[in-house]
Amino acid sequence: MTTTLSTRLDSFERLNLIDTPTPLQRLPRLSAHVGREVYVKRDDFTPLALGGNKLRKLEYLGADAIRQKADVLVTAGAIQSNHVRQTAALAARLGLDCVALLENPNGTTCDDYLHNGNRLLLDLLRVRVHDVDSLDDADQQLEATAQQLRDEGRHPYVIPIGGSNALGALGYVRAGLELARQARAAGLDFSATLLASGSAGTHAGLAVALSHALPSTAVIGVTVSRTVAAQHPKVQNLVERTSELLDIPAPAGLRIDLWDDYFAPRYGEPNRAGMDAVRLLAQTEGLLLDPVYTGKAMAGLIDGIARGRIEADGPVLFLHTGGAPALFAYPDACRSH
Ligand SMILES: Cc1ncc(COP(=O)(O)O)c(C=O)c1O
Repeated sequence: MTTTLSTRLDSFERLNLIDTPTPLQRLPRLSAHVGREVYVKRDDFTPLALGGNKLRKLEYLGADAIRQKADVLVTAGAIQSNHVRQTAALAARLGLDCVALLENPNGTTCDDYLHNGNRLLLDLLRVRVHDVDSLDDADQQLEATAQQLRDEGRHPYVIPIGGSNALGALGYVRAGLELARQARAAGLDFSATLLASGSAGTHAGLAVALSHALPSTAVIGVTVSRTVAAQHPKVQNLVERTSELLDIPAPAGLRIDLWDDYFAPRYGEPNRAGMDAVRLLAQTEGLLLDPVYTGKAMAGLIDGIARGRIEADGPVLFLHTGGAPALFAYPDACRSH
């Protein structure tokens, strides 16, 4: 079945910007600290504009944009969106323009949040920014922006928030198959893979791939913005639509594991455990996480191991999805203890 999945995946056009597997590394000092073997897959290392998980999705979405002869990519996110940064960099790389709808989800007035980190890079990448009060109806807002561009004679290609549609999720099906090959080659049998689960494309794509290629490895999404009840249908739906796109049956009896204990008080606002995890990884491994996604997911991994929440024995994998540019937008959280 893995061969079928791989063949089906290969029938989709991809930009081929990620031409080597991202590193799989052991974290020896973190492992000693938590009393269990922990490995990290370095998707913060994807090769464009400071890296991150979104390039994997954008390889498929960007190929589709080119096929449709688009001349401008249109997307949306928070002011400090890693997704928008990576989309803007891809647009530059492809010689396209980029228009982004940006919201300030928590009404932050911190100057660094408003101007530094990812937002600074958007200026450098020459994104046309439209500030919006909220992205409560993002798909419709994106379509309205695309229509305005069409009225101006442009050819927009809309990328949903986080690049999380079925086509984008193929990037993480491919990543999951890559991970399975790496694990096998290293003789590692991961009991679980933990990752930050937001717009759900990363989680859904990985779940589809691992259900075929590493069925004994649980995929545990640590939510960064929603309760389990709200996130579960998003992941489930995307698993189904991604399977449909690949023309394979949705994985039978797939358990979608989600932990929602680590994102409080809300999306985009750092918390104590998340920042402790950011500091711990910086100071034990020289590994940079971020305050919004990977810090909170790592807090889940550390607490989950301490509380015996990971059922099977064996090493645990952390998917590092990037985000460190946002550290510069949260200086107070980085400095305070
Ligand atoms: C650094 C980082 N990690 C994780 C995620 C979550 O990925 P997804 O939106 O596919 O759930 C994001 C999404 O923006 C991100 O920027």
